[in-house]
Amino acid sequence: MKKILITGGAGFIGSHVVRLFVNKYPDYQIYNLDKLTYAGNLENLKDIQNKPNYHFVLGDITDDAFIQKLFEKEQFDGVIHLAAESHVDRSITNPNAFVFTNIIGTVNLLNAARAIWKEHPEGKRFYHVSTDEVYGALGQEGFFTEETCYDPHSPYSASKAGSDHFVRAYHDTYGLPVIISNCSNNYGPNQFPEKLIPLFINNIRHNKPLPVYGKGENVRDWLYVEDHAAAIDVIYHQGPDGETFNIGGHNEWKNIDLIKVLCKVMDKKLGREPGTSEKLITFVTDRAGHDLRYAIDSSKLQRELGWKPSLQFEEGLEKTVDWYLNNQQWLDNVTSGNYQKYYDEMYGNR
Ligand code: NAD
Ligand code: DAU
Repeated sequence: MKKILITGGAGFIGSHVVRLFVNKYPDYQIYNLDKLTYAGNLENLKDIQNKPNYHFVLGDITDDAFIQKLFEKEQFDGVIHLAAESHVDRSITNPNAFVFTNIIGTVNLLNAARAIWKEHPEGKRFYHVSTDEVYGALGQEGFFTEETCYDPHSPYSASKAGSDHFVRAYHDTYGLPVIISNCSNNYGPNQFPEKLIPLFINNIRHNKPLPVYGKGENVRDWLYVEDHAAAIDVIYHQGPDGETFNIGGHNEWKNIDLIKVLCKVMDKKLGREPGTSEKLITFVTDRAGHDLRYAIDSSKLQRELGWKPSLQFEEGLEKTVDWYLNNQQWLDNVTSGNYQKYYDEMYGNR
C-alpha cells in the first residue's frame, strides 16, 4: 500500500492528477494537501471526494511546522508537488506571494520529506512539477530541451526556477530521490478564468472585450491537461531518480491565431453569426517582460518512457469549450467568489 501526498490537488492540473491517481490506483492512499486559495476549488473533485482512497488536507505549504507534523504523522511514500502561485500577471503585481509559496513552500516540503526518508530513501519519490517558463524565451527557431540553461524573466518563472534548483540541490547534497518535469501551457476543464483560454471563453459568453496583449504575436505550446496528468503518472512511476523530463504538445500557436480559432468555435457552439466573437478582440498594452515564444522538445519523454499526447488541438479545444459551456455554474461561482465565501463559512479563519 502506498501513501502519496499530492499538493495543490484542488487546482487546475492538480485536480486532474488527483482524479487519475485515485481512480487508477485504488490500492494507493491519495492525500490532497491544498490551501484553497482563489485558484483551489474542491468542486473540481466532487466526483471522487467520497472514494475510500481519497483524503483532503487543508493546509499551507509555507507553514513549516504544520508540514513537518503532517509528514511525521502520515509517513508518505511519495510526494507529487503541484501547489504554487501560477499566474504570471499576478506575479508582476505581487511577487512576494510567489517567493513564499513557490520557493519557501517547496523547501519546507523537501525538508519534511528528507526528515522522514533519511534512513530509507529507497522506493521513495519527490516529484516536482515545473514549467517550461524557467528556460526563458525562444526566438523564431529552436526548442527547449532538458539541457537548455535557465533564464527566467517573470517573478513567476524566477520563483519556479528557484524551486527547481532547490529540488536538484536536495538530490545532489542529501541524496533525496527527486524527479522534475517542465511542461508547456496546459488547457482544459477546471482552469481558473484568469488564464488565456478560460478567460476568453468566459468573456465571449458575456460579450466582453478579449484583451490581447501587444500584437498577439507571442507563441505558446499547448497541451491538453489530461495528457499532462498522464505524463506525470508515467514519470512518477518509471522515471529514474534525479532526472528531468520536458513535457509538451508539439503544438505551437501564435496567440492571435489561437484566439481566432477559439472565436470560431465559440460562435458555432453559441449559435452566433460567424465573426461575432472576433469583433470582441481588443489589443491592449503588452505584459511586462512578455516572453516571445515557448516550444518544448519532449522527445526524451517519448523515447525513454513512451509517453505522447493523445489529443489533437482542435479536438481538445472543442472538448474544453464544451466543458465550460456545460459548466457555466462553475464559471459563475469562481468568478463571483461564491466558492471562497463557502470555504470561509466551512473552514472559518484559515
Ligand atoms: P493553479 O493555480 O490552478 O492551482 C494551484 C493550486 O495550489 C491551488 O489549488 C491552490 O489552492 C494551491 N496552493 C497555492 N498556494 C498554496 C499553498 N501555499 N499551500 C497549499 N496549496 C497552495 O495552478 P495549475 O495551473 O494547476 O499549476 C499547477 C502546477 O503546475 C504549478 O506548480 C505550476 O507552476 C505548474 N505548471 C502549470 C502549467 C499551466 O499551464 N497551468 C504548465 C506547466 C507547469
Ligand atoms: O508555459 C507554462 C505556463 O503557462 C505555466 O507555467 C503558467 O502557470 C501558466 O499560467 C501559463 O503561463 P502563460 O503566461 O503562458 O499563460 P497565460 O494564459 O497567462 O497567457 C498565455 C498567453 O496569452 C501569453 O502569451 C499572454 C497572453 N494573454 C494572456 C491573458 C491572460 C493575453 O494576450 N491576454 C490575456 O488576457
